[in-house]
Amino acid sequence: MYGLDDVESSHDVLVIGAGCAGMRAAIEAHDAGADVALVSKLHPTRSHSGAARGGINAALGNAGEDSPEAHAADTVKGSDYLGDQDAIELFCKEAPGDIYQLERWGALFDRDDEGRLAQRPFGGAGAPRTVHAADVTGHVLLQLLYEQLLARDIRVYEEYFAWRLVIGEAGCEGVLAWDLARGGVKALAAKAVILATGGSGRVYQGSTNAHACTADGMAMALRAGLPLEDLEFVQFHPTTLVPSGLLVTEAVRGEGGYLLNADGARFMRHYAPEAMELASRDVVSRAEQTEIDEGRSIGGSLLLDLRHFGPEKMRERFHGTRDLAITYAGIDPLERPLPVRPGAHYHMGGVATDVDGRTEVENVFAAGEVACVSLHGGNRLGGNSLMETIVFGRRAGRAAAEQALKKSGSAELGSGARSDGERELARLLERREGERPKAIRDELGASMNENFGVFREEEKMRRQLELLENLRERYEEVLVEDKGAVWNSDLSQALELGFQLDLALCMVSAGLERRESRGAHSRPDDYPERDDRNFLKHSLVRWTNDWLDLSWKPVTITKWQPQRRTY
Ligand code: FUM
Repeated sequence: MYGLDDVESSHDVLVIGAGCAGMRAAIEAHDAGADVALVSKLHPTRSHSGAARGGINAALGNAGEDSPEAHAADTVKGSDYLGDQDAIELFCKEAPGDIYQLERWGALFDRDDEGRLAQRPFGGAGAPRTVHAADVTGHVLLQLLYEQLLARDIRVYEEYFAWRLVIGEAGCEGVLAWDLARGGVKALAAKAVILATGGSGRVYQGSTNAHACTADGMAMALRAGLPLEDLEFVQFHPTTLVPSGLLVTEAVRGEGGYLLNADGARFMRHYAPEAMELASRDVVSRAEQTEIDEGRSIGGSLLLDLRHFGPEKMRERFHGTRDLAITYAGIDPLERPLPVRPGAHYHMGGVATDVDGRTEVENVFAAGEVACVSLHGGNRLGGNSLMETIVFGRRAGRAAAEQALKKSGSAELGSGARSDGERELARLLERREGERPKAIRDELGASMNENFGVFREEEKMRRQLELLENLRERYEEVLVEDKGAVWNSDLSQALELGFQLDLALCMVSAGLERRESRGAHSRPDDYPERDDRNFLKHSLVRWTNDWLDLSWKPVTITKWQPQRRTY
């Protein structure tokens, strides 16, 4: 049926996702002695990590006084005190070593006049801390890590869409994947599986995220019984290009770009008088949304002015941004300010892990945006996510390899796992009537923007839950019109939509229960203040008996007690 063949494979460690976190994890697992392979929907260098343009944070102190301790303090404050401080301290301490290793592997980072790695200011950072390769840092890292994979001859199951974790009595046994290019269910056994599938931005209509960012890993984990942490916290990046939603890097504000409203005023002075455009992203996005809501925008956009950069700086540091603006908005930023607005960018929440990527289910690890360590708490600092992929990708790769190498023999999937998966897809493919995924997906995206955006209200969140119930009912009858095996994007999009609907339900449910304003979760009407007495805790959602169960766990505090957060 549907072009199935009998290919099965078995590895010590299987990494799902081949962005920066996935590739870094695979390299480390390989170097620790494990037989490792990656499974990816995309060719690795097309992964969404490439969209993290502005840079990667580590306290090297090359452009001003800095230390891992200062980096940690900024990250704790940026998280609105929800980040786990043990994880944050470890991350900030290990980040410089990882930067030097990337450099030794050949990362083409920019240099300052003295020949040291250049570092630029970024939002919420007390020192210039962001190492960069012009405005294409993520791309540079993807190429670099891919080279390292090739040098080690690490196998990539490319254009394989993993959609189900196989859980047996002793934990995870591997995954089921659909072979996008040739068709057919592939059963991949592993002693340890690392989820590195990235985020969920495409749950929203206006997003900086690639179309591939459909919450796959989070939803697979949820369905396998794992808890997801802090899902109510979604970062809206302040400068997404209108109308495409593409990211205009924060680096342009780090290097002097500024925001204007319809009156030509630098409105940030009312919201963050000291940091101005370099306040944390949640602060800048709320300021923009307020300007929009109060009628001081230009048709829903603010303006990002870079004209004063001049051609030389633009060419040297921001050629990627200029290209994007000319191609997708028809505007040369040297001549006119760019129209921007806040757009869904990053999920602070994800699969709950410890600092080695371990989850609650035996043999399942997670790293990168799919995971919640929790490094970012209620709001992530720009530049911390690329670093997260490297530090926590490396740690998860090492821990997964160690775990796998303790087991003798080859990994095997329990009998019936593959036929269960085949039956699931057959049900979808054999349906002859129903609604195609697109309308449901469009309604999901538009309604999440409307009802679960920068500002949240009780009534809108309740409305969104009702709507999600309706969309989920309609999804039960979703129609995959294409019955073919080869490049059946109708099928993969239907599976992705199922993931997105599950995740949206978790996000809004957690958002309703967090009755306070913290980081990116802002409820100005009913709970405008942070409430440390009742909500200095992480939300956890899990799928139990076909419904969501919400619980809480404490935040780890080492040395920074919560304080008023101003910029
Ligand atoms: O604005 C940016 O360059 C994005 C970076 C990030 O999200 O860390």
